[in-house]
Amino acid sequence: MIHRLQRGLVPDKPHTVFEVDGRLVYEHCVTRKGFDGIYTIQYHRRPPHWVQSAEALGRHPGWAGPGLQEPLRRSHYLTGKLAGGETAFLARRLLFANADAGIWVGRPASGDPTLVANADGDELTFVHAGSGRIECPLGVLRFAARDYLYVPQGMPHRLVLDGPAHLLTIEARSPLRIPSQYRSDEGQLSMAAPYTHRDFRAPQWPDGGPEALGAPRRLVVQSGGTLTAFELSHDPFDVVGWDGQLWPFAFSILAFQPKTGLVHLPPTIHTTFAGAGYVVCSFVPRAVDFHERAIPCPYPHSSPDCDEILFYVSGNFTSRKGVGPGSISLHPRGLPHGPHPGTYEASIGTTRTEELAVMVDTFKPLLPTAHAAAIEDQGYNLSWVK
Ligand SMILES: [Fe+2]
Repeated sequence: MIHRLQRGLVPDKPHTVFEVDGRLVYEHCVTRKGFDGIYTIQYHRRPPHWVQSAEALGRHPGWAGPGLQEPLRRSHYLTGKLAGGETAFLARRLLFANADAGIWVGRPASGDPTLVANADGDELTFVHAGSGRIECPLGVLRFAARDYLYVPQGMPHRLVLDGPAHLLTIEARSPLRIPSQYRSDEGQLSMAAPYTHRDFRAPQWPDGGPEALGAPRRLVVQSGGTLTAFELSHDPFDVVGWDGQLWPFAFSILAFQPKTGLVHLPPTIHTTFAGAGYVVCSFVPRAVDFHERAIPCPYPHSSPDCDEILFYVSGNFTSRKGVGPGSISLHPRGLPHGPHPGTYEASIGTTRTEELAVMVDTFKPLLPTAHAAAIEDQGYNLSWVK
């Protein structure tokens, strides 16, 4: 969704006869917003919609319905307590959900043995720990810790991990996009945006094309939280070329260019991605506000139309005590939130923060599931009492 790319062989004009190695190849148009949004056209050696069998697998093992936040409270979850093991797609657990977004965290031991596709939304995965590559019909995308990984809704792919990983996945139930204020009228990322086109890494075209990857023929599709396994009649990566604007990307959170003001700027300046009903923000190491009497720590605030989760990655978070790498805090609407006792005062006169965190704000209540309740750090709500 960043810009248009082209890989491999494509005909001069879409929807025309195109032959490779003397045989007709088959167009596969992958579109968004029906046919009105961005799209990519893939060229397959065989029709991409041929399957041999379909098998119902029931609910994703990590799916859970949203529960109640009773009593209403600020809460803290230790994702490091989630059981490690399993494979990337099946290891994750849905911790928070509403109609617009789901927040999953997994600590897989290894990559996916099958292809997977999430029909429930775009996926933005933050790699808290681990490295590896995504294999998909468009090529290979390498990633490492501190990367965001974007995989479009419904794209068959698999994660191949170099070892155990710790992954935060935002399941975005409307298209994830670059905030419109970061684009020029012509669509180029503006010079005032916190990143440039060069910061987004696209799939690489392997020698021999994606066919050379030897993709699994089994594809597990998630729709409505339930899984169906399809046995494909042929290699789904038999793509000879593609062009378009819908492709997975990797983006290092450290490529996000922070802004600092004379006095404290609102969290809006950390907005990295957005969609209907949610925004994703990146807090990265930076110089802090430089007025001689500035208070760099965030001020207490009430945002009664937002629920906020923060995933803590590293560094000492300016406003919070007792949270560490892999922590998630949930601050729901209806309660003011702000710095822990002493942190507001302690920030005066500081010049830098090393905090690294991912924030998701939603405009509908983000409700914890039973998987979240199992890793909740009790007592957080009252930790502001001096
Ligand atoms: Fe906040």
